[in-house]
Amino acid sequence: MPHLIAPSVLAANFGQLDHDVEMLNQSAADWIHVDVMDGRFVPNISFGFPVLQAIQKVAQKPLDVHLMIEHPELYIEQFRDGGADIISVHYEACPHLHRTLQQIKASGAKAGVALNPHTPVSLLSEVIQDIDVVILMSVNPGFGGQKFISNTYQKIKELKSLITAKESSCLIEIDGGVNVENAPLLLKAGADVLVAGSFVFNAQDPTQTIQDLKQISF
Ligand code: DX5
Ligand code: ZN
Repeated sequence: MPHLIAPSVLAANFGQLDHDVEMLNQSAADWIHVDVMDGRFVPNISFGFPVLQAIQKVAQKPLDVHLMIEHPELYIEQFRDGGADIISVHYEACPHLHRTLQQIKASGAKAGVALNPHTPVSLLSEVIQDIDVVILMSVNPGFGGQKFISNTYQKIKELKSLITAKESSCLIEIDGGVNVENAPLLLKAGADVLVAGSFVFNAQDPTQTIQDLKQISF
């Protein structure tokens, strides 16, 4: 499967959100990554349902919703109704992760689990067959524009081995500090989906930057 690119609208210009989402529609982006932060699970607040709905009105690509919130199980159906195609919850925020994954699937969305940089991949061994996508955080969640943590390469390899051993079809998504330099190495290690926020939206030509990430061969 060719790798997928998921630009994060966290780095978009919210004063012209329609314009930026339309740019993503016209670009080589595969998914639109939507970062929801509650100021509790992470030390930052981004946006909630009204902004998600505004994105959905314009978006012509799947919405990849990354919930950096406590108690995500209280809001799964609302995010699905707001247009989420993929809903990812944090391992660290879900004491009943298996139940929450079933809840996401019952809503009709694909189910994802995100792991903080310190959380070992092996903790997913009993649920990997229930997961559609694992997000490996390559920065500490909460902010765009942070420096990539290089231990991520090792985690990708471990996750790939786990997926193969358990015959799971789950995708590996990398989130944080992704750019055109580390992208080939991430793909070589086994990544399937690359999230990129500031690297895309701070670029002179975001459309071309998405194309550059999409065209990487390794
Ligand atoms: C971080 C978010 C990321 C962020 C990535 O908490 O989950 O999706 O938007 O931004 P960059 O690509 O700038 O690191
Ligand atoms: Zn994210």
